[in-house]
Parts: sequence; structure tokens; C-alpha cells
Amino acid sequence: MAILGIDIGGSGVKGAPVDTTKGELLQERVRVPTPQPSDVSSVVEAVAGVAAQFDGYDRVGITFPGVCVDGVTRTAANVDKSWIDAPAAKVFGDRLGKPVTVLNDADAAGVAEVAFGAGRDQHGLVVMLTFGTGIGSALFLDGKLIPNTEFGHLELDGKDAEVRASDRAREEGDLSWEKWASHVQKYLRHVEALLSPRLFIVGGGVSRKSDRFFPLIDIRTPMVPATLLNNAGIIGAAVSAADPSKAGVV
Ligand code: BGC
Repeated sequence: MAILGIDIGGSGVKGAPVDTTKGELLQERVRVPTPQPSDVSSVVEAVAGVAAQFDGYDRVGITFPGVCVDGVTRTAANVDKSWIDAPAAKVFGDRLGKPVTVLNDADAAGVAEVAFGAGRDQHGLVVMLTFGTGIGSALFLDGKLIPNTEFGHLELDGKDAEVRASDRAREEGDLSWEKWASHVQKYLRHVEALLSPRLFIVGGGVSRKSDRFFPLIDIRTPMVPATLLNNAGIIGAAVSAADPSKAGVV
């Protein structure tokens, strides 16, 4: 079954039809800039614009950079506040004319990594963290997602962790890799102390440069870069739409 996966990010809305048994894009993905302001109706139109480039799909999975419960978006740390308590799955479904599953962006990326990437065949507790505009988190127990963990908002040095350790914090603060890695290390040690996971999977755009900062981080838990990179959100969204109960989103 072909399912359209769409990933709503801080700078772009990206989508492509996905083969959810192989975890591969069936066509080249389409990307449009995320509208600013990123209010509900503008983003829905951007998503519809991406969806209109494709046909032959039955369902749509969409990621959102905030808490999603039963198709309702509950928080909006890095997007317009009109998303708070918006009936997102219904609004997208009405606009696209297909059944829609909406889930957190880091949860989607984690679902893809656990199914097809760095988290495959990993038992026990696995934590995926995405370092981008914010810090996203996805928690897995024996491959099963426990959704909406929001570990990016743990407190670090009296601040929201993502304010200190996201990739945006590195870029906007013009931080050296050493300086930024020291923040990430402190953050990871905090998560490690709370959860004692078996494995950290590090995702987000910066994971492509893992050779620049992994060697600077000293923690006890094994840590690996995500392998699906840019497409993890799209693939995870589609996989979750194929079986919403498996991803724990319904
Ligand atoms: C949001 C999370 C999201 C993460 C990455 C955080 O600010 O609260 O829901 O997963 O950013 O986009």
C-alpha cells in the first residue's frame, strides 16, 4: 500500500510516497518552505501543495513538531501558537480528502530508525534524540514507541534544554563544536541518569556531522548516529499511518 509521508519542519515541509514495508521513498521528495507565520491554515495549504504533487496513495502520515494526542496538536514550542489544541488530523483529513495520521516529528523519525535504521533489532530501552531547531525525543521499549516524551524540554542549567543544546543554539550562539558538545554531553548525562537507556540514537540534520562532535562526548550509554537522515520523518510518518496502533498514536 502506498502511503504519503509528510514531514513538517522548522524550515521546510517535505513529502513523498513511501513503500512502508521497505522503508523507502517511491518517488523523489518534494519540499516547500514552511510558511511564516506557521499558523494552522498556512501550514495546511503548504501540506496540500506538497500532497498535490503525488497521486495513487490511500492514506497520509504527517509529522508535527509538538505533542500530538489522538490527532490533536497540544503544544507549539517552535511553530505558531494557533496549533495548540488544534484538531490537526481532522483539518488535514478534510483538506486532503484522505485518512490522516498525525504524530510528533521525533516520534516519527524514531519509528523509521527502529524499523529500518540505527534502532533495528534493538531490544530494551532506546532513546532517539533529534537535534535541530529544538530537541525532539522518542522513547522505545522493545521497539514499541512510548509517544510524546518531550525530553527536549528537560531543564539544563536553569533553562529549557533545547535552548542550550539544540543545533539552533549552536548556530545562533556561534558555538564551537567543543562548546556545543559540552552542552550536549551535559544534556545526555542528564537523560542517561533519568532513564539508563541501552542506546542513544542521535538524529536531526547535525547527525550528518557526527564525526565532529561524537568524539567530544563522554557518556556511558552507547550512542549512534541516525542512518535515515533527511527522510526519517517522511518514512516514519508513513509507517505510522500504515498501522497507527503500532506506533502508539491512536
Ligand atoms: C517540541 C517537540 C519536537 C522538537 C523537535 C520541541 O520544541 O516540543 O515536540 O519534537 O521540538 O522538533
